[in-house]
Amino acid sequence: MKIVGKYPSIRLRRVRNSEWMRKLISENQLSTNDLIMPIFIREGKNKIEKIKAMPGINRYSVDKLSTVMNKVSKYKIPMVALFPFTPSKRKDKLGKEALNENNLVCQSLRLIKKRFPKIGVMCDVALDPYTSHGHDGVLVNNKIDNDETLKILVEQSLLQAKMGCDVIAPSDMMDGRIGKIRKALDKNNFKNVSILSYAAKYASNFYGPFRDAVGSKKNLKFDKKTYQMDFNNTNEAYREIGLDIKEGADFVLIKPGMPYLDIIKNIKDTFKIPVFAYQVSGEYSLIKFGINNNLITKDAILESLMAFKRAGASAIITYFALDIAKKITNN
Ligand code: PBG
Repeated sequence: MKIVGKYPSIRLRRVRNSEWMRKLISENQLSTNDLIMPIFIREGKNKIEKIKAMPGINRYSVDKLSTVMNKVSKYKIPMVALFPFTPSKRKDKLGKEALNENNLVCQSLRLIKKRFPKIGVMCDVALDPYTSHGHDGVLVNNKIDNDETLKILVEQSLLQAKMGCDVIAPSDMMDGRIGKIRKALDKNNFKNVSILSYAAKYASNFYGPFRDAVGSKKNLKFDKKTYQMDFNNTNEAYREIGLDIKEGADFVLIKPGMPYLDIIKNIKDTFKIPVFAYQVSGEYSLIKFGINNNLITKDAILESLMAFKRAGASAIITYFALDIAKKITNN
């Protein structure tokens, strides 16, 4: 782009001089329509338990989900994402609890779809909340076996769809899962259930607080680098995303968020499909720690989310969804 004009006939500060002027020339907006609220679920009754690694975020027992869902509904947040904290006694090598129709996710789906039918629900498809080793797939000879994992993921997706899940979100990074899941959904009369592929999910150091929140951290004996992407790479993200679109993904997710804005922008410009961003737990905790210790102000939250809008994200999964919805609704 050629820059036209020069100082002093051009003074860019002229259009920043008042708040109303800044509003007029504002290039991007964040609204509650852009937000997805993640919710952690736990066993038991009447429990709202604080998560130490993520100040301000709780785990809810299913009977208490309405407390958070009422707020989601009040602020018109379009969708929630469910994540279960599974007690160790229900975990095993294969993650069979994923296929139990009374597991925490299934119970929550039934409740939310009954009481809050207008709010979308997305569910992770991956085995890490349910495996004793904390990995997203099945371990065969100490390796994550792609094709054995696919069989369970397809069943997990069908079960979630049957329970009312609107958006199936495979976050496991196995090869070929989108095609297999799409085919199974179509064959079983779930052609209107959509797929949000965690298409470019990097093996990131920013997932720590989440793994604490779902109770998989202490079980994990080796990293996830044989299936999640190497953070050195960009081209690989294009290949991952191109394949997932071909296989039937309706939208794609880039994860983590802020350190990967380049990927969000490139993918949006190249493929022109809805791109979602995930501001992950480590990003949340860092910003929250900064705010709680008066190192940065609360407005850093909005600033962090606007970065996703500038980069071209259609929606953002963020643990700040309720905080920020409250703020922008009152403005
Ligand atoms: C697991 C999953 C992870 C997150 C969402 N789904 C973590 C991981 O891959 O270990 C991370 C979310 C966050 O950090 O907020 N399938």
